[in-house]
Amino acid sequence: MKRARVGVLVSGRGSNMMALIDAAQSADFPAEIAVVISNRPDALALETATERGVPAVCVDHKVFDTRELFEQQLDRALRADRIDIICLAGFMRILSPWFVGQWEGRILNIHPSLLPSFPGLDTHKRALDAGVKFHGCTVHLVTRELDRGPIIDQAAIAVRPDDTPDTLAARVLTAEHELYPACLAKVARERINASEDEQAGRSEAG
Ligand code: GAR
Repeated sequence: MKRARVGVLVSGRGSNMMALIDAAQSADFPAEIAVVISNRPDALALETATERGVPAVCVDHKVFDTRELFEQQLDRALRADRIDIICLAGFMRILSPWFVGQWEGRILNIHPSLLPSFPGLDTHKRALDAGVKFHGCTVHLVTRELDRGPIIDQAAIAVRPDDTPDTLAARVLTAEHELYPACLAKVARERINASEDEQAGRSEAG
């Protein structure tokens, strides 16, 4: 089976990265995690990925004078690995319109709220402050507008009267670990089918 090659971008703990790595271990999962890239040298995710035998590298944004130079290096690293799809998994840098344009329709992000509610940071506290009864997470395509790209899927959880930002975050995170692999599988399958259709069309035409 053809599998999409995925590059996971991280900045910290990497629990969503782990969920993707675990899912991709299954032989019928339509994507493989080809590389993990962190913008922070101290990200725990780098260690965990290495322990799991996934190539993990750091492209430290602090080493570059400008965001453009940082992103050019990121872009080169991903192309060198022949990446088809990028998954942002707790990657805490905003990507420029240039970078997003290079990878149009091929960057997924997981966000800890039911978008379009609560884009940005501190989502669990803001959800509690707003008194919402349901909260959750969203996987969406990344576009030039922050946290506003087309939604691939969402998972909702009920807010409990005694929830704190931490208890809510923990339940949302468990939902994230289910949602992200399912969404990646869907997008990867669509890409593989589209490229097979294109090849079949070419061989019929030729
Ligand atoms: C996750 O909750 C993810 O949704 C969030 O950061 C956490 C990373 O955890 N992402 C964002 O807030 C992006 N704006 P992890 O490193 O354990 O996957």
